[in-house]
Amino acid sequence: MTETLRLGIAGLGTVGAGVVKILRREAGLLTARTGKKLEITAVSARSRDKDRGVPLSGYAWETDPVALASRDDVDVFVELMGGSDGPAKAATEAAIAAGKDVVTANKALLALHGQPLACAAEAGGTVLRYEAAVAGGIPVIKALTEGLAGNRITRVMGVMNGTCNYILTRMEATRQGYNALFEECGRLGYLEADPTLDVGGIDAGHKLALLASIAFGTQVDFGAVALQGIQSITLQDIDRAADMGYKIKLLGVAQMTGRGLEQRMTPCLVPVGSPLGQLDGGTNMVILEGDSVGQIVLRGAGAGEGPTASAVLSDICDIARGIRLPTFGQPAAGLEAAPPASAASPAPYYLRLTLKDKPGALAKVATALGDNGISIDRMRQYKHDDQDVPVLIVTHVTARPSLDAALAALPATGVVTGLPVALRIEDV
Ligand code: HSE
Repeated sequence: MTETLRLGIAGLGTVGAGVVKILRREAGLLTARTGKKLEITAVSARSRDKDRGVPLSGYAWETDPVALASRDDVDVFVELMGGSDGPAKAATEAAIAAGKDVVTANKALLALHGQPLACAAEAGGTVLRYEAAVAGGIPVIKALTEGLAGNRITRVMGVMNGTCNYILTRMEATRQGYNALFEECGRLGYLEADPTLDVGGIDAGHKLALLASIAFGTQVDFGAVALQGIQSITLQDIDRAADMGYKIKLLGVAQMTGRGLEQRMTPCLVPVGSPLGQLDGGTNMVILEGDSVGQIVLRGAGAGEGPTASAVLSDICDIARGIRLPTFGQPAAGLEAAPPASAASPAPYYLRLTLKDKPGALAKVATALGDNGISIDRMRQYKHDDQDVPVLIVTHVTARPSLDAALAALPATGVVTGLPVALRIEDV
């Protein structure tokens, strides 16, 4: 007789309902692929009465996800509630304590508490999987943990927040400002309950921290991710960057350097013709670089019912097949805390300045840069706007502290009006 794997699902929002639909629709296929019958025994959500477009009457209902997580008739606890603390954390801890395997889509929970949760799971002989937590439907955890297990990973990069990429690319296409696009995202239901998680880079930073842990064999350390959101990017920035051959992306980069682990989630410039430069709308892209494999580019939907449920099913199928990998690719108890890099690695920078229209203004800016060891690669001056002159400068490779010192010296030149914009140009 076919063995049964019994699932308890907490959270029946878009993703939870999507998981239930796939489990019902594809029961035969999933059994053929895993050798087990995948059966939902109990579910839990905030509202019992809401129509989720899928029948739930055949499943036991629990109002408390912690009770669901500990039920005797649940083998795998599927956490789809979200939130870094509160019920999601309590129920995940309860499931691990009760010896259940856990599948979650919760990047915030794992980015902030992944190390103790993984240690507890591995000490108890259970598995904690989270393919859906990073880049939605893109199987990047599997790619990194399994497909690239024979490589030393040299760099991980990605556009991993679809909302930010939607806003940035729609600003350019529709000529609307950030605020109008932010409101459009709200109307379309693209924003997290706390939209700062999206536009402040936090959601994408959580994802980057998880990938960095697997890639570099270090404890997940979200606190060490240098974060900057997209709130201050203007249409003018986008247009001027395009003039110089670049697109602006909220780009995550993690790499191990001689100065420690560098983790950044910040607006960066990438060449228009690069795969990242051509990524439009809400799509995600993750780029993995390994010493043997070279560069791999993964592109796909980073959110939504189908893609995220697809990733949750991948973890459930692994557990059904008996694949029991450590959470971060190697035993969590042996992971070291990585020293964070104190500054980003050197790179070229793009500067957008507004100068007073008077003799010697450009020379003073060039001197402020030169005094800090910064060499100019390209420069472009635009038509005078009354008494102000917009100027773009692309520097040669520069250390960030030198750039900061030069930016700090600009007000004293007496020729720079407004706040300079400085964006890193990433070598992708
Ligand atoms: N809010 C995220 C995004 C999806 O816009 O990509 C879930 O992580």
